[in-house]
Formats: sequence, C-alpha cells, structure tokens
Amino acid sequence: MVGLLSLPAQAADSVTLRLGHALNEDHVVARSYRHMADEIEQLSDGSMHLRIFPNGQMGGTQDMLGQMQNGALDLVHASASNLESFDDVYSVFNLPYLFPNQADFKKVVFGPIGQQIMQSTKDKGFFAIGAYVAGYRSFYASKPIRTPADLKGMKIRVQSSPTTISMIKLMGGSPTPIDFSEVYSALQQGVVDGAENNVPSYVQTRHVELAKYFSEDQHTSVPDFLTVSTSTWNRLDEKQQQILMKAVHDSEKYQQQLWDKVDQQAREQAKEMGAHFVEVDKAPFRKAVQPLYKEYKQDPEHARLLKQIRQAEESSDDQPQS
Ligand code: GCU
Repeated sequence: MVGLLSLPAQAADSVTLRLGHALNEDHVVARSYRHMADEIEQLSDGSMHLRIFPNGQMGGTQDMLGQMQNGALDLVHASASNLESFDDVYSVFNLPYLFPNQADFKKVVFGPIGQQIMQSTKDKGFFAIGAYVAGYRSFYASKPIRTPADLKGMKIRVQSSPTTISMIKLMGGSPTPIDFSEVYSALQQGVVDGAENNVPSYVQTRHVELAKYFSEDQHTSVPDFLTVSTSTWNRLDEKQQQILMKAVHDSEKYQQQLWDKVDQQAREQAKEMGAHFVEVDKAPFRKAVQPLYKEYKQDPEHARLLKQIRQAEESSDDQPQS
C-alpha cells in the first residue's frame, strides 16, 4: 500500500498525518488528540494537519496497528494491552497491582523506563511518542464482585492482552477479548457477564446502564499510548518532528489536568444513573495473581525490567519527565 503521508520531493512543507483511534469522542484521550491537532495546525502555520478517525471508523485497535505497519495510517492510539500482542515489552504494564499508587505509575511511565519501552519497537515499524494516564481498572457487572470466588463462571470482557487473560483466569473468571466499541452490545446480549475498566470509560461508554455494580478491586493501571509509524516519522523533517513532539507533550499535560476532574464527574454521573461503587478488599485478588509474577520473572529480561521499576518506585529523585 502507498504511504498516505506523501511528501512531494521538492516541497516537503504540507503534510497531513492520519490518526486512528477506537475511542468515543468524549474520551479524555480523544479530547487530548483534538487539542493536539489544533496545536499542530497552529505551530506549523497551517502546513501540517492531523486528520483524526475516531470511534473505530478505521477498525478495531489491533487492526489499525496492522494498518499502520502497512502504511495506511500514520498514528494509532493503543493501550498497553493492545500493544502487548505486537511486542512483549508492553506486557509489564498489564501486570496486576504493579504500581503502589498513581504517583509511581507516572514516575515509571513518564520517566526513563517508559521512554525506553516506548522507543523499543522501532524495528517493528512503529514506536510510541505519547503516553496517557488511565486511572485504575476494576470489574463491573450486574452483581457485586467482592472476592475472586464471585468471578466463578463469569465471562469478563478483556482487551486482547495475554497477561490480562491469564490474570482473569487466575482470579477465577472466564476472559473474553472484545474490541472496545463492541462491549456495549456484548453486555446487552449477554455475550459477557461483566467487564473491567476505569470509571470514566465505564460511564462514557454507557456500560453503566447495563452493569450497575462497579467493584473497586483496582487490579490494573494500564497506560494508553500514541504510536507513530517509523516510516512516517523518518519522512518528517526535523522541524515537523519537533512540532509533532511539542503538540504530543502538551496533549499529555492537557490529558493529565483533565483526568482527575473527569474521573470525579464520571463517578457522580454514574451514581445519578443508579450505579453502586463497591469497596473491595484487594488482598485475595493480589494473592490470586501471584503465579503471574512468578511466571513473568522466569524471563531474565522481564525480571530485569521489574527490578528497574521497583527501584524507580523506591527512589524519590527519579521524577517524571512530563
Ligand atoms: C480505556 C483506555 C482505552 C482502551 C479501553 C478498553 O478506555 O483508555 O485505550 O481501549 O479502556 O478497555 O478497550
């Protein structure tokens, strides 16, 4: 397929980048991408454009990542769960209870470790240039889930991450990978009995209408990433790369500022819609997933990465970069 970012040889001054995502327009990250598009336009005096294809218009995330590798898209939004099946390095972010708190999440994801991971897939035809916070993911269903035993026999929608699939199995549920945009009808038709996500996504997708119990076991904090095709990146000149990166960094800051507000608003809205937030003792969930860590650490590369993360969490001077 011909690359859609076509820069004429004599005039590399007008560029349109195509970004695909499967989020709805209200999603905090979708709003941040619009912020980024405006800034790109402004900083380049109208010579660079970001054309956004939202709502899975271009397909599910896994599919769009493939399209980007083939040159049909320049940028794709993906969570670390989507990326895990493209490169194992992203599996670490899918480990349950990896970060003791959100400050440590930021320290790792926006610090040197995150940078290293984001750059590491260049030879696969893409790499990540932006990272976004995504709170905690917890279970929701039409009944409370207070202990792993409550998950027995329940089909739970997951993203297509092998680590998440193992996690749900260890907790006692049946994992069912489904694209984000198809979860509403899967819940409605009983294809799954529940799902897991952060509070804003639970509300913005209207899953709250179908699953009134949000049980806060807070099993994972999975970052979102903006990925770019390596060949698109190489075709941009230095100035264009700088403009893109400035707009990406500013979109990260914008998203972090929005996040807490949106999280709080979503909770209020969910309660108004009849949702119950259930407090959960995390200890039995943590215990159930211990074999996942044991298995993960058998790979020396994984063990090294996990050690680096623990060290970063313990050090007080290793501040996030943005
Ligand atoms: C969150 C996350 C998305 C992801 C979605 C999902 O909303 O921000 O990137 O696609 O969860 O569960 O699929």
